[in-house]
Amino acid sequence: MKKVLVVRYSQTGQLTALAEQIVAPLAADPRIEVQVQTLVPLEPFAFPWSFFAFLDAFPESAHMVPPALAPLSLNGDEDFDLVILPYQVWFLAPSQPITAFLKHPVAQRILRGKPVVTVIACRNMWLAAQEKMKSLLVDAGARLIDNVVLTDPGPTLATFITTPRWLLSGKKDGFWGMPPAGLSDAQIRASRRFGVALRDALLSDRERGAQPLLSGLGAVQADPRLYISEKAGTRSFYLWGKLLLAAGPPGSRRRVPLLALYVVFLIMMIVTIVPASLALQALLRPFLRPWLTKMKFQFEQPSGSSTERSHFHED
Ligand SMILES: Cc1cc2nc3c(=O)[nH]c(=O)nc-3n(C[C@H](O)[C@H](O)[C@H](O)COP(=O)(O)O)c2cc1C
Repeated sequence: MKKVLVVRYSQTGQLTALAEQIVAPLAADPRIEVQVQTLVPLEPFAFPWSFFAFLDAFPESAHMVPPALAPLSLNGDEDFDLVILPYQVWFLAPSQPITAFLKHPVAQRILRGKPVVTVIACRNMWLAAQEKMKSLLVDAGARLIDNVVLTDPGPTLATFITTPRWLLSGKKDGFWGMPPAGLSDAQIRASRRFGVALRDALLSDRERGAQPLLSGLGAVQADPRLYISEKAGTRSFYLWGKLLLAAGPPGSRRRVPLLALYVVFLIMMIVTIVPASLALQALLRPFLRPWLTKMKFQFEQPSGSSTERSHFHED
């Protein structure tokens, strides 16, 4: 009997729907037992977000200050063969509930020495978050064997509008010719292939080896051109975050003027640095190509972007 742990947290249900597609082939197999750990922050993050609550979440997200979680259903003595860790990105870092799980003493006991598959669903900026995730996994003594990434299919500029609208109003539909926010149903359905591949790998003990289990399935497509914007964003979240952490706890009135100032700075950054860095990189593309190719390859590890095995796993 193989034992698999799946961690679950989602505000809109998007990440849960994705995790369910991946887990379905595992749960349907009598030789595999799946345990789900749902994360419940003691102070819930309300959805849709108010504008202030949304911004106010960035200092703790960027500095990976864990919010308190309701007691876990795990006790730390469980022994899993594989851990599936779906997570969403909040302000270029793993979302606060997932960070809290990774820093939780019970989770640290469970993760030690275990193979972990991370599954990211976010707008499209996940490179810095996965770097942070890797260091959280190293701290927990876990072994990252695969990373699946699904990003919103809309164009970057459109999702700069459709994603905040979704998060702040709950409205996901397309408008003014822009596509709906979030992942498409087809992307979520097609993720079943990862579950089929994980099931087959578990049944032949391949999770014990060092090789990724999801290579050849188009698990991830990295766009290293966003890395420069992510670097700039991470730096600004870090510095301003420090100031806000010093001003008071989440929700504190003393944070309001600083957040108001920061939002102006953030919008200026988004409308200047992101397009400027993309335009500059387009101009310098011939010189940057070897660097971008190398970065793309590195960020796509361990699972990679090739698709040669996809058709084997469409049952
Ligand atoms: C506070 C907050 C910050 C976010 N920051 C990012 C980000 O930095 N990069 C990104 O690609 N998506 C970002 N997103 C989008 C989420 O990663 C995710 O796609 C969306 O919240 C839906 O996730 P859910 O499954 O929890 O509903 C952010 C969402 C929230 C709520």
